[in-house]
Amino acid sequence: MQVVSGIQPTGNLHLGNYLGAIRNWVSMQDDIGDDGQCLFFLADLHAISLPHDPVQLKRSTLEMTAALVACGVDPSRSVLFNQAQVPAHAEMQWLLNGTARMGWLNRMTQWKDKSGKNREGQSIALFTYPVLQAADVLLYQATHVPVGDDQKQHLELARDIAQKFNTDFASEDAPVFTLPDPYIPPEAARIMSLRDGTAKMSKSDPSDLSRINLTDDADTIMKKVKKAKTDPEPLPSELEGLEGRAEALNLVSIFASLAGISKEQVLVDFGGQGFGAFKPALGELLTESFAPVTARFRELMQDREALDAILAKGAAKARERSAPTLKATYEALGLVRG
Ligand code: TYM
Repeated sequence: MQVVSGIQPTGNLHLGNYLGAIRNWVSMQDDIGDDGQCLFFLADLHAISLPHDPVQLKRSTLEMTAALVACGVDPSRSVLFNQAQVPAHAEMQWLLNGTARMGWLNRMTQWKDKSGKNREGQSIALFTYPVLQAADVLLYQATHVPVGDDQKQHLELARDIAQKFNTDFASEDAPVFTLPDPYIPPEAARIMSLRDGTAKMSKSDPSDLSRINLTDDADTIMKKVKKAKTDPEPLPSELEGLEGRAEALNLVSIFASLAGISKEQVLVDFGGQGFGAFKPALGELLTESFAPVTARFRELMQDREALDAILAKGAAKARERSAPTLKATYEALGLVRG
């Protein structure tokens, strides 16, 4: 089992990242034992595909490293690094650019969403972003990629690239790449904005009230939950009663996911009650769950050198682990490296 996943070091780590991906990174790391390895990285190379501030990117890379460690990613058991220190990622992307097709990238919904009506004005990096993402996982022969639902299409593309490359340049009994499988948590595949149950919770939403950040204190969390958009109806006792009530469904899903119980159970406990009772319970659960993580994050941020050292050590391991597949890829393509 090779577990590989990444997160962009832009903005704060929010509840969607945590429930959709990071919590699974930690549980996979804790369960994997001697049966495989976990590699987790800061996708800083992806972060330059949109306009960005270099000083802020540097700071966010360290902050996101601290956030991941605070959430339970253990650098002594998992390889934790940033892409920029492992040139194999950028190299592999170029090698895969020969295999990826324009039509495949044109179909990516994130490209369509992020480019909007101004495709001509976008960076080429935004368009080829999913090829770098394919490189990230294929370099390490990833078998499992824990992500939220919004990354599913990018991973399907990684599979398509791997398959075409293997068919075009390798023999059937000695493929260059393993086909990776996404691992998406069914109960938290897509955590929605607290202000709009039809939009995903995201770092780029201009309203901070739309998301819970790992760094929010108890008062802020409670305020955001109380201000979360809902409807005037009480909670139903059964799941069908949440149909057409996106905001209510989102809050129930968050509660279930954090408490480690089913949505049905949440409705058994809260069915018939209004949001006046449910919201404070959710706020408390969020505060309880995040308080130790936030405290650890603040502590880790005191020692920047230790964070640099974690990334340097992780990058050295990642360079070593990526070398054989990178070499095999050059060779399969007939490129002479000396
Ligand atoms: P990013 O940085 O947007 O998000 C990091 C992880 O958080 C998940 N996520 C969510 N899950 C549920 N509900 C939400 N509202 C929500 N918002 C974010 C994402 O699905 C992701 O798992 N392109 C990737 C980073 C990346 C990557 C990779 C991931 C680069 N290379 C290789 C996996 C493998 C991204 O921008 O994620």
